[in-house]
Amino acid sequence: MSNTNKNLVLKGTELRQHYVVSQGFFKEDALVKAVDGISFELERGKTLAVVGESGCGKSTLGRMLTMIETPTSGELDYKGQNLLTLSKSEQMALRQRIQIIFQNPYGSLNPRKKIGDILEEPLVINTKLTKAERKQKALAIMSKVGLKTEHYDRYPHMFSGGQRQRIAIARGLMLDPNVIVADEPVSALDVSVQAQVLNLMMDLQEEFGLSYVFISHDLSVVEHIADEVMVMYLGKVVEQGPKEHIFANPKHPYTLALMSSTPQLSPDKRRKRIKLQGELPSPLNPPSGCAFHGRCSFANDRCKTETPLLRREGEQLIACHAVEEQRMDLEEALA
Ligand SMILES: Nc1ncnc2c1ncn2[C@@H]1O[C@H](COP(=O)(O)OP(=O)(O)O)[C@@H](O)[C@H]1O
Ligand SMILES: [Mg+2]
Repeated sequence: MSNTNKNLVLKGTELRQHYVVSQGFFKEDALVKAVDGISFELERGKTLAVVGESGCGKSTLGRMLTMIETPTSGELDYKGQNLLTLSKSEQMALRQRIQIIFQNPYGSLNPRKKIGDILEEPLVINTKLTKAERKQKALAIMSKVGLKTEHYDRYPHMFSGGQRQRIAIARGLMLDPNVIVADEPVSALDVSVQAQVLNLMMDLQEEFGLSYVFISHDLSVVEHIADEVMVMYLGKVVEQGPKEHIFANPKHPYTLALMSSTPQLSPDKRRKRIKLQGELPSPLNPPSGCAFHGRCSFANDRCKTETPLLRREGEQLIACHAVEEQRMDLEEALA
């Protein structure tokens, strides 16, 4: 085994998820490359933030990482074991180590069940703990996420959005996972409540040594929680690297545009001038060359025909011809 990094928890290599989509009786089936060759490494106690507009493949990636869906191709390693080649029973056991939390705490909590039952359900299914032991565990986790003992017998509708997301987080913790995939966990919450839930997640990460894959369409949300940032566009990574570098020195025109759309992130006036034009192209009929070329003010003929590959550029990985050719003179282009 060439893997010598003891802290490495989850590793994805060239992960792909291609869906065959029916277009109706008289048309040929189409292929949606929802995730198209994504690689990453996630260490213990660290957070990988996955960012990009709606439809770029974030949730699909999340479903593969939690084995809700099997990738079309690629490799997924958990602590050096290839999850995709294990037997079903081995998979089941490791699956418990990787939990997912969804955006919508309204939809993902059964309204007819009490909080205690919601939390204990994973224990009923996956462990041999007694009823008393399950309750003890539920109450312990509830206190970790800031819920009170008396909440145990209440129903989801009796809680605020922020509290419901705490319940969802508590449920995710019941089986002592090492990895949590959080798919837009605060996107449905008010900004003030978002910060509380993010702080809670960071406290829990520290206490339990959790690794997070934190999915968000909003770069500003991930700024504090991320260690590594991956910016996705139509199923591919366009920029990836340490958080400090991505935020201090974003290079891909798409990352720059995402930053411009969140004003508090760009004290630098140049960035404010890069506007994201047009809509995300249809994944059923993606543009040739660089998928971003139609929305990019730096694009030329090469960008229209040749797909850029991820290359190392300083501390980051960037897939952009304009960056590679140093064609992107921001001062000049935006003067
Ligand atoms: N089960 C599926 N079958 C066909 N297409 C899908 C399926 N799931 C997702 N897609 C498509 O894959 C692309 C990525 O979707 P998704 O992963 O939900 O993006 P995001 O979470 O970034 O909004 C979208 O074009 C979506 O329509
Ligand atoms: Mg999504």
